[in-house]
Amino acid sequence: MKGTYDFGLVGLGVMGRNFILNVADNGFSAFGNDLDPEKVNALIEEGGDTKKVDATTDAKTFIEALSLPRKIMLLVPAGKVVDIVIENILPLLDKDDIIIDGGNSFFTDTDRREAYLAAKGIHFFGAGVSGGAKGARLGPSIMPGGNREAYQHVKPIFEAVSAKYKGEPCVAYLGPKSAGNYVKMVHNGIEYGLMQLTSEIYDLLKKGGDFSNEELHQTYAKWNTGRLQSFLVQITSEILAQKDALGDGHLVDQILDKAKQKGTGKWTSQNAMDLGIPVPSIDIAVSMREISALKEERIKADKLYVRPKIELMDKAQLEKLTEEALYFSFIVTYAQGLHQLAYASNEYGYELEIAEIAKIWRAGCIIRAGILADITEAFHTDKALPNLLLSPSFIEKVQSTVGAARELVAYASKNGIPVPGLSNSLTYFDAYTSSRLPLNLIQAQRDYFGSHTYERLDRDGVFHTEWEA
Ligand code: 6PG
Repeated sequence: MKGTYDFGLVGLGVMGRNFILNVADNGFSAFGNDLDPEKVNALIEEGGDTKKVDATTDAKTFIEALSLPRKIMLLVPAGKVVDIVIENILPLLDKDDIIIDGGNSFFTDTDRREAYLAAKGIHFFGAGVSGGAKGARLGPSIMPGGNREAYQHVKPIFEAVSAKYKGEPCVAYLGPKSAGNYVKMVHNGIEYGLMQLTSEIYDLLKKGGDFSNEELHQTYAKWNTGRLQSFLVQITSEILAQKDALGDGHLVDQILDKAKQKGTGKWTSQNAMDLGIPVPSIDIAVSMREISALKEERIKADKLYVRPKIELMDKAQLEKLTEEALYFSFIVTYAQGLHQLAYASNEYGYELEIAEIAKIWRAGCIIRAGILADITEAFHTDKALPNLLLSPSFIEKVQSTVGAARELVAYASKNGIPVPGLSNSLTYFDAYTSSRLPLNLIQAQRDYFGSHTYERLDRDGVFHTEWEA
C-alpha cells in the first residue's frame, strides 16, 4: 500500500527539522528520516501533535509513508553523504519519484547525479536553500533546478514554505540540470563579497572615525532603514550591540579574527576563472578569509613594519562617505555575480532569467536587500542585459556614489587600513568602464617574447612583429 504523506525529508539536523516543521505549518503532511534516533524523537516531539509530521530511522518505513510521486528532500552535508543517501533509498523508489538535494552541493556533482538518476526514471533536483535555520523554519529563499515538468509536483509545497516578498514567493523554477545549485553557489559568492565589504566599512569607521560600538550599532541600524537596507547590514547592527556574556564590553571585540569557510565562495571564484568572467570583489573576499587564517604570521609581521599613524576623519563626513561607498560596492558586487550567472547560463545551457533570480533573492536569503527590487526591475526591463552597470537605471546610483569610494580608498591606503573589497570593487568599476586599457602593451609583450600575435585597432587580421630586429 502506498503512503499518504506529501513530503519526505532525509537529514533531521537543525536545517532539516526546521524545514519539515515549516512544511507542516503550511498544511502539508511530512515524514522525516534520520539514522539518529535522537533527532527522529526530537522532531516527533516538536511536531507530532500537529498529526502532520512523523519520522523514523528506517528507510523502508519512510519511503512507504510517502505519496506518489514521492517528493524527498535531502538536507545532509554536501559531498559523499548525498551519494550514500541516494544509494540507500534508490532500490525503494518508483519511477517518476523526485529527489531534491537542498544542500550546498557542487554543481558538477548535481549534474552527475541528475544524469545517473534520470537513467533510472528518477528526477533529481539541486535546490539551493538560503536563510539559515530561521529561514528554513519561517521562510527561506529556494533556488531549484532540474526537470521542469517534475517541478510542478514540488512547486505548491515550495511556494507555500518559501519567504514572501510583498506576497510573492521567493522560489522559482530556475532551469535544467544543476541550475539551482549553481545559482546558490553564486549567491554565496556574492554573500562573501558583501560580508567582506560590511566588515571593511566597520573597520574604517572604527579606525578612521573612532566610532564606539554603540555608535557603530546606531550607524548600521540607521543605514538599514535607508537604501542599504539588507539582512547583512541589519545583523551587523545587532552584532555590534551584543554585550559579552563572559566579560566586560562587547562580544564582537573578543571574537578571534579568523574567518572560516565551507567552500562555496571559493567555488564561485574558481568557476568564474574557468569561465573567464571577472569577479574580483568575490575573489578578494575569499583571499581575505585566507589571510585572516594566518593570524600567527600576521602578528609577527605586524611587529616588523611601521604603519602610518592614522589621521582621524570627521565623524559625520566619514559616516556619509562610508554609506555611499558601501552602497556603490554592494551594487558592483551584485553586478559581478549576476554577470557570472548570465555567462554561465549560456555556457551550461541553464536558460536562467536574471530578473527571476534577483526577484527570489528579495526576501528569505542571506543576501536579501532593498536594492534587489531595483536590480529585478533592471533585468526585467532588459532581459539580455549583460552587466548591471550597463543598465540606464543604475547609472545615477553608481555615478553619485563612486566618488565616496575613491575618497575612502585613497584615505585608507594613506592610513594603512586594508580595504581590498572596496578597492577591488572600485578597480573593477574603473576597468569595466574604460574603453581603452593598457592591455595593448601586454599583447605587444606576448608577441615580443612568444610570437603570440596581436590584433590591430585600424585593420582586421592577426599580426606578428619581429620586435628585436
Ligand atoms: C545561506 C548561507 C549558507 C551557509 C554558508 C556559509 O545562504 O543560508 O549561504 O548556505 O551559511 O554556506 O558559508 P561559509 O561557511 O563558507 O561562510
